[in-house]
Amino acid sequence: MAKKVRRLFEQFRPENYKLDLAVNPEEMTFSGRVVIAGKKIGRPSQRLTFHAKNLKIASAKIIKHDKKSDEEIAISRINCHKSYDEVRLHSEQKIFPGNYDVELEFSGKITRNMEGIYPSHFSHVGKDKKIISTQFESHHAREAFPCIDEPEAKATFDLALTAPKNQTVLANTPVKQTATSKQQTVTSFETTPRMSTYLLAFALGEIKYLESKTKTGVIVRTYATPDNYKHTKFALDCAVKILEFYNEYFGIPYPLAKCDLLALPDFAAGAMENWGLITFREQALLVDPKNTSLDMKQYVAMVVAHELAHQWFGNLVTMRWWTDLWLNEGFASWIEYLAVDHLFPEWQMWPQFIASEQQSALALDALENSHPVEVPINHPDEIRTIFDTISYAKGSSVIHMLANFLGQETFRDGLRLYLNKHQYANTDTVDLWAALEEVSGQPVKDFMHAWTSQTGFPLVSANINNNEVTLAQRRFLLAASASETSETWPVPLLTTSSDRSLFKTSEQKFKLKASDDFKLNLGGSGFYRASYDASHLTKLAKLVSQNKLAPEDRLGLLADSFESAKAGLAPATSALELLASYEKEDSPIVWEIIAANLGSIRRVMDDEKLNDAMKPYVRKLVASQAKRLGWTKAKNESHFDSLLRPTILGLASWAEDASTVKKALALYASAASPEDIEPDLRGVVYGTVARTGDAKDFDKLLAEHNASTNSETQLTLTAALTNFKQASLSQKALAQIRTDNVRLQDAAYWVAYSLGNRYAKSLAWDWMKDNWDWLEKNLGGDLSFSRFPNYAARSFSDKEFASDYQKFFAPKKSPMLERSINQGEETLNWQIAWRTRDLSAIKKFFKN
Ligand code: BES
Ligand code: ZN
Repeated sequence: MAKKVRRLFEQFRPENYKLDLAVNPEEMTFSGRVVIAGKKIGRPSQRLTFHAKNLKIASAKIIKHDKKSDEEIAISRINCHKSYDEVRLHSEQKIFPGNYDVELEFSGKITRNMEGIYPSHFSHVGKDKKIISTQFESHHAREAFPCIDEPEAKATFDLALTAPKNQTVLANTPVKQTATSKQQTVTSFETTPRMSTYLLAFALGEIKYLESKTKTGVIVRTYATPDNYKHTKFALDCAVKILEFYNEYFGIPYPLAKCDLLALPDFAAGAMENWGLITFREQALLVDPKNTSLDMKQYVAMVVAHELAHQWFGNLVTMRWWTDLWLNEGFASWIEYLAVDHLFPEWQMWPQFIASEQQSALALDALENSHPVEVPINHPDEIRTIFDTISYAKGSSVIHMLANFLGQETFRDGLRLYLNKHQYANTDTVDLWAALEEVSGQPVKDFMHAWTSQTGFPLVSANINNNEVTLAQRRFLLAASASETSETWPVPLLTTSSDRSLFKTSEQKFKLKASDDFKLNLGGSGFYRASYDASHLTKLAKLVSQNKLAPEDRLGLLADSFESAKAGLAPATSALELLASYEKEDSPIVWEIIAANLGSIRRVMDDEKLNDAMKPYVRKLVASQAKRLGWTKAKNESHFDSLLRPTILGLASWAEDASTVKKALALYASAASPEDIEPDLRGVVYGTVARTGDAKDFDKLLAEHNASTNSETQLTLTAALTNFKQASLSQKALAQIRTDNVRLQDAAYWVAYSLGNRYAKSLAWDWMKDNWDWLEKNLGGDLSFSRFPNYAARSFSDKEFASDYQKFFAPKKSPMLERSINQGEETLNWQIAWRTRDLSAIKKFFKN
């Protein structure tokens, strides 16, 4: 663990920042002056300390306000303490508790690393252009100005920005005033609400917008580059409706006069909830009918809903410290489904929640090296490691479980109380439980504590004998573990739609009237896996084939069965036999599980002969859906059918179904550019080209990648370019990463996709080792960086790799990488064990 860092909020409480910043995009520098008004607290001392990183401090002044007069405190020394990101103002005099103005002048450099103040690059009518913008979460405000950069240190901000003339200048609040001189414009903004430093933002550049208004008069604008702003209409419409939805749902009106949503060409994460100025990666905001797939359009709605939810949950009420980050992210990752479900009921968002959030959380949390939802954080450098599947997906899954347990209305009322009580302030997880308890009268904290404080989740096994059920629970782990654990969870059984009983002990028996259709976790809202004795599993399989189970239940049954095989609790063939009951399956959420598990078998078993044996099986498996869906959208086709088509055709193409391959290649041959291929089908078409193509095809796809200005199209092409079989082409793909053809924000895709290609994975691993220093230097501050060990590990299942992995990463276990490296090791362990156990049986299964 990293060194413990003192909270600066313990000695000084800022109330207002008067911040004047001058940005020079030409020189890539900025300079400024800040007056921090606030209270010194605690014991008298001879210094005041603020956060500052990579800033040059030119001057500092401390003024004490007294009832009678103001007094300047002489500063004897300004000391920048690098390893703590601190600037310390020392004085010979004692500084007593009281009200102070602290004034600092400073300057800094604008660097490319997508945090603090950074540039985005794009070209417009042949000219290179820049947007300068900010990314302050989690602790990068200190790279822009001296401040108390902790979420608890809420203050108001009066920002004035000096920028070159003729630029659009945005910040959290509306413009108050502008003053233009010969070269420059000074834009001052309205005072912000009381908020944390990580939510402050500004942007300047040649950007354009579309505008709309909510029912209550909030002005909503969607900004992007001049070529792209016209593609923000969908996001704009979503934003207006979602703001109106949250106004009603939370019972508190959105507190600002405006809400801007800005798409940036260079962006590290997916989007960022800065209060009133939300920033996005382009693919998360732009919908261009010619280039955007349905899947990505849905993603845009989800991201907008997620960031808008933070305007209340996160911005208005904020976690006290990063330990409770999950509260922000888990909640937003849950309510984005509620909001999008409200806008587009036909999209069936809740079934999708089970397939994506819950299943990915269960997968990671099945490792011993997972972590609890509530995780101690000392130094903020550790924080980026917890912007992960546990905080987001497990966080949202346990909230989903709770909301279902309490009932939707009670849950909403609890949220209203919580937000109302804590607005403009900070909270811990228990504050949310307290509000929900007050409203529901239920022991919420007792129920939730195990789920947020214990790592992992239980496997509940059911044995059924003459209508008597015996339940047992124990932690589910993928890798055989030395440390058998004995903890239990309060498990909502949900065996019928009205069953609210909790199974809290390690074993329990009960009687049923009839047991034939007994199934745990109906609807799938419980965060656990289930298993049944063999004869009962046969009965459930029959219910699947008779189409008597809901999609979430079909999904859960199959996923749990495959995961049990991976964990060595059942043979893989029993999951594959269960799969036979899914002959008529037509739901994309279930197919997501089928495709993922066929993928796991391919990846982990890693055997060319097995691959070949799987192809006829897969062709047969997808045949009826492929026939039903075809290549063209039916008129008024359901959202789910449209989402399913690329999955089915993708599997058919992988399995070398002759007509699918032929059709895909024909579409490719007749297309002059990507835009001639339907966006939903582009992945299938280019994937087929990559699997069957040669160097000429590679060059053509690369040229299309480089010419495209659409980030989703580029990504689809990246998936293809990294998917060729020829070693020389895999090399060529990897060689793109460090060139101008690939934006830094996209580098991780190239690496991860190459590792996912069984013909390229060894080369990709070598590339990763050889270029580690470059990755660290360029992406070291980025979220994606800590995932690299994991990306590598999941692609392999042999001992030689495991020892190479060990050798390479053993000396790299920094606080940022340690957990990921350990997760990778554990993943390798279970994958190697699974392969050893099941390869020959799986081969036999597919041969027959
Ligand atoms: N607050 C995060 C963005 C963020 C992440 C900032 C990590 C700094 C470090 C934002 O609300 C978020 O969660 N964005 C997601 C998209 C969302 C739809 C899951 C992202 O960036 O992927
Ligand atoms: Zn978020």
